[in-house]
Amino acid sequence: MDWGVSNRVSRIMRGGRTVMLAVDHGYFQGPTTGLENPRKTITPLLPYADSLMLTRGVLRTSVDPEHPVPVVLRASGGTSILKELSDEGVTTSMDEAVRLNASAVAVSIFVGGEKERQTLLNLSELVNEGERLGMPVLAVTAVGREMERDARYLGLACRIAAELGARIVKTYYCQDFEKVVGGCPVPVIIAGGKKVPEREALQLAYSAVSKGAAGVDMGRNIFQSSDPVGMIRAVRAIVHDGSTVDEAAKLLAGPKAARA
Ligand code: R5P
Repeated sequence: MDWGVSNRVSRIMRGGRTVMLAVDHGYFQGPTTGLENPRKTITPLLPYADSLMLTRGVLRTSVDPEHPVPVVLRASGGTSILKELSDEGVTTSMDEAVRLNASAVAVSIFVGGEKERQTLLNLSELVNEGERLGMPVLAVTAVGREMERDARYLGLACRIAAELGARIVKTYYCQDFEKVVGGCPVPVIIAGGKKVPEREALQLAYSAVSKGAAGVDMGRNIFQSSDPVGMIRAVRAIVHDGSTVDEAAKLLAGPKAARA
């Protein structure tokens, strides 16, 4: 791996593991619950995030440039929840990513989606530019409503992302997840998905890292929790310290939350 790419990846992955805080939802969902005021949501969580995944708009308006958190800059978009989600283009140039001192850029691919080819070419375009400048590209395997989130499908999507040059792949946890990781030659991290009870989300993180995930890129299950700081600390304990779900749940505020 080129030194610049390697250095940027190591800013994101501490000892090969990462707790990435995803706060990019607004790029197609608008003011998502819990993210109506991004600065208010993000600021208390920053000390516990290995990296922050977000758009340039939220980065510029809602994160102090003095903060050392590595940035994974969302660089694909152009659609909304009102339209066909796979119809994405590249929204943020590699020059902009360098200017914003990003540690990686993120792009969604929609394997099996209506605009599959377009999104795979978005990834390829960013990889071509990124490799020239030493910027790693993280591929997000977005799943259309019609797709089954099983190991066969997610394994296909992750492998294609890696083959096209993604340095990190973000996907969803599924049964037989070890097969997804086993077929993907770059680190795989998981999205949290829609909000579920805290303990369930911690179990998801635990199962994923136990089966080979390099960590999480988690959003709603942290910032929509009744105890966002406790939740990100609990996720960190699982990803970085090898804690069990019971041990991690003790970091949540109060016995009620720990039982949730
Ligand atoms: C979705 O496309 C966004 O990229 C989110 O960053 C991603 O889904 C992770 O967030 P969550 O844990 O809320 O699913």
